[in-house]
Amino acid sequence: MTETLLRGRTLSFWRWPDAIDDHGAYSYQEDGGVLIREGRIVATGAYEDVARQAGEGAQKIDHRPHLIIPGFVDAHVHYPQLQVLASYGAELLGWLNTYTFPEETKFRDAQYGRRVARQFLDEMVRHGTTTVAAYCSVHKQSAEAFFEESHARNMLNIAGKVMMDRNAPEGVLDTPQSGYDDTKALIREWHGKGRQHYAITPRFAITSSPEQMETAKALAAEFPDLHIQTHLSENHAEIAFTQELYPWSRDYTDVYEHYGLLGPKTLLGHCIHLSEREADALSDSGSVAVFCPTSNLFLGSGLFDYQRYRTREKPLRIATATDVGGGTNYSMLRTMDEGYKVIALNGEKLNPFASFWQMTLGNARALSLEDRIGTLDAGTDADIVVLDSRATPIMKLRMEAIGTLAEELFLLQTVGDDRAVREVYIAGRPAKGDMA
Ligand code: GUN
Ligand code: ZN
Repeated sequence: MTETLLRGRTLSFWRWPDAIDDHGAYSYQEDGGVLIREGRIVATGAYEDVARQAGEGAQKIDHRPHLIIPGFVDAHVHYPQLQVLASYGAELLGWLNTYTFPEETKFRDAQYGRRVARQFLDEMVRHGTTTVAAYCSVHKQSAEAFFEESHARNMLNIAGKVMMDRNAPEGVLDTPQSGYDDTKALIREWHGKGRQHYAITPRFAITSSPEQMETAKALAAEFPDLHIQTHLSENHAEIAFTQELYPWSRDYTDVYEHYGLLGPKTLLGHCIHLSEREADALSDSGSVAVFCPTSNLFLGSGLFDYQRYRTREKPLRIATATDVGGGTNYSMLRTMDEGYKVIALNGEKLNPFASFWQMTLGNARALSLEDRIGTLDAGTDADIVVLDSRATPIMKLRMEAIGTLAEELFLLQTVGDDRAVREVYIAGRPAKGDMA
């Protein structure tokens, strides 16, 4: 039996932290311990208490003075867009046509997909992200490549091949039949294998014909426990084009509603320009609105109104995500920094505890995975990140004047990135040293 005992400053959330002084929302131990057995957390709390439960042969790893927190969760990212990141000068539809679709055609080549999947997951780990909800390309082999790499690392990831049969170049199109067949074969092969989860992934309403939407509906009905991921209401030109393609629809959300695609496992990227009716439809169905701040700013898509969605009479479930390559950084710290600024432009402030809740337990809940990931609770999987608040010269200097945990978390979010990630554990195994 392999046992690992981590020591450091541990932080894990119980619930949403309503204010900067809402200390009941989390557990923080100045001298904390996390005991890991067979990939699971078996005890967490004050170091002396946890250490007493460790066996003789437990491997002890001292991370003091660093912070030990649950691994970050990224609820929306495109793995085939690693070579799209930082593509200049376009809004959504132009950006897709100019940069994204041409790059994604390369994933017809399984070798290429395998290499990028490896690089992508290395980057995730380097940035402290232990779970992603990932879009693959249209090609079945791109999803196979992703799952093979993810499974080999024993990561808990959600992914799916995109279904898209129109309004894109030939090299990234499937058909209603092949999209259905490939999705079903991938579900059978990968969903539930180790820690892998399959997500039914119609890319968005513009690139799926009504016939393909019918097949997505059929898959959702056949596999009601699976996640569904797509894009919704990101950009005004996208919304107008969708209205032309589905003239009968009341609004963009109605298209997905009509095809039975809303529900508590549905992850909707962006959701920036929703009407009150659309927001109600998301709330009533328990669907998740995924906030991708670096992408929304980079592509000039708009400002997601996090606090309005969270506090409206019918609140939305919200996740946060990088959305690289529309997004500009794989770091969830950088993402929440930009998120803070977007929320500020909407006239509100997000307290640092709420930010760290969102990146961990909040996103785990939004993905309906809180029984496995997102906390340091006993019984959950040991997906953990260790953060160094003095990782760079400016952080070191700034920390000299910082006296509270809230200030430290805010510094980590405001200037931190992959350099602040000292170690990452995937199901209890140190993973940072593994990378090529
Ligand atoms: N809408 C449809 N596909 C995409 C994509 O790849 N990125 C973003 N940001 N929006 C999309
Ligand atoms: Zn996206």
